[in-house]
Amino acid sequence: MSSQAITPQAITPRAIAAEAITTQATAPEPELLRLLDELSAEEKVSLVVGASMWATTALPRLGLEPVVMSDGPVGVRGPDGGTSAMFPAPSALAATWDLDLARRSGALFAAEAKRHGVDVVLAPQVNLQRTPVGGRHFECYSEDPHLTAEIAVALVGAAQERGVGMCVKHYVANDSETERTRYLARLDERTLREAYLAPFERLVRDVVPWSVMGAYNGAETGGVAARLLEHRPLVVDLLKEEWGYDGLFVSDWVATQSVAPAVRGGLDLQMPGPDGAWGDGLLDAVRSGEVAESELDDKVLRLLRLAHRTGRLTLPDDGAGDGTGVAAAGVHAAIDLAAATIAEPPAEQLLRELAARSVVVLKDDAGLVPFTLDRARPLRVALLGPAAVEPFFQGGGSSFVHPDRLTYPADELRAALPQGSEVTLLAGARALRNPPELDVDRCTDPATGETGLRVTLLAADGSTLEEYTAHEWTGWLHDVRPDADAVRLRAHVRLDEPGDHELGVGTVGVHRVHVDGARVAAGGLRVDEDIVLSSGHNHPIAEVATAAGTAVLDATLQVVHAVGYGHFVRAALVHRLPGPSVQDELAGAVAAAAAADVVVVLVGTTAEVESEGYDRPDLDLPGNQDELVRRVAAANPRTVVVVNAGAPVLLPWLSDVPTVLWGWLPGQEAGTALADVLTGVTEPSGRLPWTLPACFEDVPVPHARPVDGVVDYAEGTDIGYRAWERRREGGPEGAVPAAPFGHGLGWTTWEYEDAVLAWGEAHDAPASLTVYVTVRNTGRRAGREVVQVYVEAPAGGPSRPVRWLGGFAVADVPAMGSATVRVPVPARALQVWDPQAKGWATPPGTYRLRTGRSVADLRLTNELTVRPGEEPGAGAR
Ligand code: BGC
Repeated sequence: MSSQAITPQAITPRAIAAEAITTQATAPEPELLRLLDELSAEEKVSLVVGASMWATTALPRLGLEPVVMSDGPVGVRGPDGGTSAMFPAPSALAATWDLDLARRSGALFAAEAKRHGVDVVLAPQVNLQRTPVGGRHFECYSEDPHLTAEIAVALVGAAQERGVGMCVKHYVANDSETERTRYLARLDERTLREAYLAPFERLVRDVVPWSVMGAYNGAETGGVAARLLEHRPLVVDLLKEEWGYDGLFVSDWVATQSVAPAVRGGLDLQMPGPDGAWGDGLLDAVRSGEVAESELDDKVLRLLRLAHRTGRLTLPDDGAGDGTGVAAAGVHAAIDLAAATIAEPPAEQLLRELAARSVVVLKDDAGLVPFTLDRARPLRVALLGPAAVEPFFQGGGSSFVHPDRLTYPADELRAALPQGSEVTLLAGARALRNPPELDVDRCTDPATGETGLRVTLLAADGSTLEEYTAHEWTGWLHDVRPDADAVRLRAHVRLDEPGDHELGVGTVGVHRVHVDGARVAAGGLRVDEDIVLSSGHNHPIAEVATAAGTAVLDATLQVVHAVGYGHFVRAALVHRLPGPSVQDELAGAVAAAAAADVVVVLVGTTAEVESEGYDRPDLDLPGNQDELVRRVAAANPRTVVVVNAGAPVLLPWLSDVPTVLWGWLPGQEAGTALADVLTGVTEPSGRLPWTLPACFEDVPVPHARPVDGVVDYAEGTDIGYRAWERRREGGPEGAVPAAPFGHGLGWTTWEYEDAVLAWGEAHDAPASLTVYVTVRNTGRRAGREVVQVYVEAPAGGPSRPVRWLGGFAVADVPAMGSATVRVPVPARALQVWDPQAKGWATPPGTYRLRTGRSVADLRLTNELTVRPGEEPGAGAR
């Protein structure tokens, strides 16, 4: 262990002051102002309301085209339902801790956006993983604000350099899904500034996202309680004025609930449109004088600026001039894109590398990974688990994409193993509650005898508006005519196979479902657009009846109307064939395991569990997957478990299994990446960007439910690992997690030899402190280490976490070699927000910078003394 203190030589004192952050914001551009002058009140209103689900309003006479937006963090879905590159979930990218991979991902987002005609991608999501049960945990990067900010800055910067805007979301404290459009997040100012706002602030300062999305929820902080879309102190005073943000503040979809309060609260664009609160009421409010026309000017200017940045508005000066300023931005972006397109590798290659690199080795006691392969010796692999058969490629909710391709572990392993190898593929357990989709070819329209379903659109009085045979069924009826109140679906379903069949319908809203004349389900609760926001419509629980022979299915289901989403009916038709019992499935898997040289078990969550729109009640693996792992590991000690989940799940069998990998929601390259990891092509060099609890009782924030409409952030800045560290410091009885933040073994071993602290490298903002860390790879394989530096505050100052992440860097080192990496630690890492003085300050005293492999494996310590009144890194940002 080395301990060195390098005393700062010339720290510039600085008074506590809230510094307006300089961004690329320019004074309102004369050309855009001139255009603004030409607009009528009607035109201004039309511009601040979306024209459709994904596009803003065009004004052809100005040469203004629609700006097209699209989700989201796991790819660019595109507005027209085509296929896209499907990335690993964001938590997997964060698990690489690799800013170069984040930049390359940003470049791929830009290329995908161009491919789909998208100007602004609704990503990344830089909310923090406050609780592991949060439904959108997988869409966020980390429970740590610094790691979140670093990854996001790299990704957003790379995309925007290529002329594609990113819309950073959801501003702010949008960390729960329960009652998500209604709750109020209650946080003190320090918690907000030091944790939840920190990634947004970094992004605005360093890369200026072209758009920021306002969250559904409200926030109560600094004495003001308001919905985020009406929160003037947070949006106008802080984001736009204090930080100098010049981009567009757009509503989350269908989140706008008021006219004047949202106008004054800082909202610039209501999405989607054209109806909704502003679509229906803003023009009247302007005409009546409730809202002054001039109150729209800054919003329209921001919209025009965005259109210009994305190349959707061409100004007379574009292409001329010295290449600086907003007028040249679109042109430059086009040039960058041309250069980038030539240099960048195919999407598949990057996504495969990313998914493999993100895999975290939680443990590998027996050294099973990678497999020792002898090309002359075939291997017998039992590939088991529901996720081996059907990986959980992506999470549920608005981030979904239709993938360009999907790769499966069994196919890719078969291709990668020595000739003659055998891969036995069995699910062995069930993870999904709902049975699989019903095959429409089993259905006959009772009216015509054709293959398909009888669809009857009914008016509110029960009369028939229209009927036809549907030959295909996706689980939805979209674009239903607006005068339809309900839809009746009827079919004779062939169930020839002997044994018990399960047949059912999952839906939302008012419904009546009959099978063979018997009522299976009925509900009288009418739903509206709230159901879209709860995501209940994505994964409705199917009411199932058991039937045999030919079953008569007859369901009458409500038509739902939601702004921007149109009129639709949800009807998930499901069917399970007679088959082996749960016990027989388990026994088959155990037998296959016993006969194999090595067993790989893929277990995980599903979109019924990890999704936008709802939170999880617990952290259990769904279904009987725990039992599968236990029984298989008992049958063969050479068992590798791969967890296919984006957010923590409990692994009650962790100590009984020699090798456990965290495989994330890996995206389209699920198969290729896993084969690369298991056969030694790519090192699984991921490190956890969150803490893995050992049992539910220990989870610091175990639920996301508002109490009386309030989510109280009582834990303050002790988010995630910081709460666990406080407990650990509290004594031996303090609960320890199953795996700490930053943990991951990779496939080699490391020694930490030296850490030297230097400071004041102001030219390289935002780093003002640097720790030079020398690590030695003591293993026989080249490998990657993620060097992590944690900061500990001096005694006696304001209350702070026990330790927190200050900086990190990756080091690629040959076998037995050593390397010195530079770990930047921003000056902000030492600072606290002073709510009285309204500014940042560095409390004086001696700080410890502790370097290591995870928050719980710290190897080296440096000290830094700050004298009263000194501000390390002043001048650096
Ligand atoms: C989500 C956003 C998403 C938007 C558009 C909302 O429900 O909260 O993250 O970008 O829908 O799909």
